[in-house]
Amino acid sequence: MVSKEIKGILFDAYGTLFDIASIDPRLEQLCGEKAPAVAELWRRKQLEYSWLRTLMVRYVDFYDLTRDALSYALETFGLEVSSADKQALMQEYYRLKAFPDVREALGLLKGKYHLAILSNANPSLLERATSFNGLDEILDDYISADELQLYKPVPAIYQLPEKKLRLAPWNLLFVSANTWDVAGAAACGLQVAWVKRQEAIPEKLGLKPDVIVKDLLQLARLILK
Ligand code: LAC
Repeated sequence: MVSKEIKGILFDAYGTLFDIASIDPRLEQLCGEKAPAVAELWRRKQLEYSWLRTLMVRYVDFYDLTRDALSYALETFGLEVSSADKQALMQEYYRLKAFPDVREALGLLKGKYHLAILSNANPSLLERATSFNGLDEILDDYISADELQLYKPVPAIYQLPEKKLRLAPWNLLFVSANTWDVAGAAACGLQVAWVKRQEAIPEKLGLKPDVIVKDLLQLARLILK
């Protein structure tokens, strides 16, 4: 259960607020029956490249890293996609749809807690995706890993909100659908909610979320109870 000491709530972006599957129709147009496998490899490589580039100290921003992951996935499946079509796929990242529970849940929390995104995504990706979904009027700000040129789960990323909001880790609730991200935040002493949007089990890293919910509406109601 999350404690009543929460003053700030930080949301991961992809898979938590924004549904990457909203790109699927465009992927299907270009990749046909290979689209689901391309989508899965694209997301996996995006995460792998964020971890590898951090370990190698060879930072590029999340947009470029996501474009490189897309190239890898398309080439793996032998798909010849024009640079214009690849660019069009990447533009979809600026218009990812928020999950249906997000707007109402954030509306319930607005004004009661400081609400921010804490994401690997670079500022322009976050700015445009939040305004596309009308979340810019509800969120107080966003914190991007781009500031440190490192990626989650490096502790310094989860420690950014403490510094910016001048709050202790136990006053912060981090919310993510990504099990590795949940473990990363828990390792830094934040309170953590896992939004279990898909079937999965917690990582075997010796770190657990404080609460598991099926969506953000259930989380908001729990917090406000
Ligand atoms: C993010 C990815 C990891 O938003 O979902 O940081």
